[in-house]
Formats: sequence, C-alpha cells, structure tokens
Amino acid sequence: MAASNYEKFKSDGTMVGNVTEWIDARFPMTSMWKAHLSEYYAPKNFNFWYFFGSLALLVLVLQIVTGIFLVMHYKPDASLNASGVPVAFASVEYIMRDVPWGWLIRYMHSTGASAFFIVVYLHMFRGVIYGSYRMPRELIWIFGVMIFLALMAEAFAGYLLPWGQMSYWGAQVILNLFSAIPLVGNELATWIRGDFVIGDATLNRMFSFHVIAIPLVLLGLVVAHILALHEVGSNNPDGVEIKKKKDERGIPLDGIPFHPYYTVKDIVGVVGFLMAFSVIVFFMPEGGGYFLEYNNFVPADPLVTPPHIAPVWYFTPYYSLLRAVTYPLFGIDAKFWGVVAMGAGVVIFAFLPWLDRSPVKSIRYRGPIFKWFLAIWVVCFFILGYLGVLAPTPGRTLVSQICTVIYFAFFLGMPIWSKLDKCQPEPDRVTFK
Ligand code: HEM
Repeated sequence: MAASNYEKFKSDGTMVGNVTEWIDARFPMTSMWKAHLSEYYAPKNFNFWYFFGSLALLVLVLQIVTGIFLVMHYKPDASLNASGVPVAFASVEYIMRDVPWGWLIRYMHSTGASAFFIVVYLHMFRGVIYGSYRMPRELIWIFGVMIFLALMAEAFAGYLLPWGQMSYWGAQVILNLFSAIPLVGNELATWIRGDFVIGDATLNRMFSFHVIAIPLVLLGLVVAHILALHEVGSNNPDGVEIKKKKDERGIPLDGIPFHPYYTVKDIVGVVGFLMAFSVIVFFMPEGGGYFLEYNNFVPADPLVTPPHIAPVWYFTPYYSLLRAVTYPLFGIDAKFWGVVAMGAGVVIFAFLPWLDRSPVKSIRYRGPIFKWFLAIWVVCFFILGYLGVLAPTPGRTLVSQICTVIYFAFFLGMPIWSKLDKCQPEPDRVTFK
C-alpha cells in the first residue's frame, strides 16, 4: 500500500512528491530506502537476540555524539598545571564539575564504552549459537571480528585520555608488551609510545587515534558489515535460508519487510536498553569500580605504581590468557607467548566459519556436544574475566591455565567434534508461533 500512496503523491504533483523525485533523479534515496528497509525481507522469526545489532548501532551513535561534546572541553596535555595536576586530568574534572551537563555527557560516554562491549558480546554470542558466521555470511562475520578488534583499540586509547593512575599504568603494562617481541620489540615499543617512557607524546597520539583514526575505521567497517549482511540476507534462530523458498513475486515466504516490522520491534529493544543504561548513568556510573576504576580518579603519577593494575572488565578474559602463559618456549620469553595467546584468543573467532563442520547452523538442531562444550566455554570465559581483575596467585594462575586450554580446545577441536555431534534435521521453513 505504501508504494501506491507514494505513486499518488507523485501524480498529485504535491511538494513531497516533487522533492522526492528531484532527489531520486540525483541520488538513489528511494531505491536505497527500499533495498535496505521497506523491501529488505528479514526472517519473520527473529527473537530478542536480534536486538543487539541495532543496539550496537545506537551505542555507536551515542559514543560519537557524546564524544564530540567531550572533545569541546577535553585537553590532551600531560604537563602539570599550576596546582601540580596533569592538564588532561584537570580538564576531565572541569567537565565533571563546571561544564553545564558535563557530568552527564561524560558518564554517558564512559558507561557507553561498557555498554558497547556488553551489546557486542551478546551480538557475537547470538552469531555463535545460531551459526550466523556460516556460509554465505563469512564476510559479515570477518567484518565483525575486525570491528571487535577496532573497538578494543578504541577503548584502550580512550581509557588513556583521563590520564589517571589506571590510564597511565594500564598503558604502561599494555604498551610494554610490544617490547616482548624478539629482536625489534624495544624499538617498536619506543616507536609506539613516541618516547622512552609513556608521556605527553603517547597521550597526544592516543587522542588522535581515539578521536579520529579508529572511529573512521569503525564507521567504514560497520557500513561494510551491513552491506554484506544485506547482500546475503539475515540468518535466523532456525538457521534456515529463507531465500530458498520464495513466492511468485520473488519474495521469501518466510520474510517480512524490515520496515515497519523490525524498525518497530527494535524500538522495544531501544527502550529497554535506555532504561537499563539510565539506571547505570544516574545511579551507579562507576559500575562498582568495573565501569570506571576507582584508582583512575587519582591523577597519573609516574613515581607511584598502584599495588594492583587490572584492565577494565571487557579486556580481562584476554588479559587472563596473557597471564596464563608462564613458560618460555623455543628460548623466547613467556611474556611473548602470552601476547601471542591473547592475540590468538581474539583472532581465532575469524576462523569459525571454517572450523565449524556441523551439518546444521542453529543450536536448536545441534547435538549435545555443541551445547555442553559451548556452556563450558562460556563458564571459562567468565572465570578468565573474573581472574583477570584479581592479582595473580599460583592457584589462580593454574585455574586460568585450565580455562585457557578449554578456551582454545573449543575452537581447535571444532572441526572434529562438530562433525561427531548428533544433530537433528533442520526444518524446511522457519518455525514461528
Ligand atoms: C559496532 C559494532 C557492530 C554493529 C554496529 C553491528 C551491527 C549489526 C547489525 C545492525 C546487524 C543486523 C541486525 C542483527 O542481526 O542483529 C548485524 C548482524 C550481524 N553481525 Fe554485527 N555489528 C557489530 C559488531 C559485530 C561483531 C563484533 C560481530 C562478530 C564478530 C558481528 C557479527 C554479525 C553477524 C554474523 C550478523 C548476522 C546475524 C544474522 O543474520 O543472524 N557484528 N550487525
């Protein structure tokens, strides 16, 4: 019906029709609207797991908008002001205390960082349980893994900017990891820092990365991610390809137009998300020390090492992988292999489309091996995350080593166990109640 109303508009010669026509003759506005929204047919059985893609988009916009306002008042300067406080740190305090609504903008941005990771982790988990990375969606997934890497770099650079104790010492720990690389490590670490120690040069380049370089990459990757998705179409909780069954007009029998059906549905997710987000922003912006670490309210001091340095929660599973490696190998320091384990822990996701040999995509039709192994893997991921916040002890290191082995066994053994699993046949059409 919408299309015929639109035609009527045009023959009426109304202003709206004219403007639309004028633009369409110069820019594919209506055809893009149709291709990506009103005539993009999405499976009709989406459930709540499908909220997190649009929520990730929302948080991305939120971070960019709040970030723009923060940059208006923030100063990337490590030198000390008249009171002996780093200018960067003082500028954040100024935003919090003196800039009208500055506290709100800052807390939205800092909470937004954690929210981004919560949403993206859930979004990735959805991909794993429904096999959304499988053919023909490999590129959507690979763009996703690249987004995840960019997001980590973005969060790391951003965390340095308040120039508090955790900014400084966290950067010290992570940037020093580069020096573990054999032969070129020390030179590389100095090159990345821009100085022999973490200092003003480091802060300035991290500011540049955080504010412009990485956001540009992120935006480009998100566009590529969605274009790839719209090329092949969405997967769904049944893992059934809806394009295989079409009506005489070529419309998937199990598809419904994204707009208005899913635009409206996604608003429900947005409202739910904003309610939870507001509770954090207004009542517990530090998130119990997990979203904003208490030690980061203390200005950076190169002369005082905090007794315990831990990254923000979203990095801690990978930080645990790093610390789990305690033995040197091939005459190379354990630290280097720790870095390799940490990097591999993220990059291995990119290989999922080729590691998984199951005949079905969705967890609904997979056998017990997948369900059990995935459940154990998730538990290990949480344990690694928890241990990453704590100071290491021999007992904790042992537990994180066991979890690390399980973490990688899930992926590396997948070509074998995914084939052995007893799956049920996938249905022909999506199941929908
Ligand atoms: C800034 C971060 C991201 C944004 C804005 C984003 C956005 C989206 C959107 C809007 C969709 C379609 C709606 C939906 O299926 O939920 C989607 C689908 C998808 N995304 Fe992402 N995404 C992000 C990160 C990631 C990451 C990190 C991965 C994986 C490593 C990933 C993997 C996928 C997959 C496989 C699909 C297709 C799902 C299906 O059809 O079942 N995305 N993404």
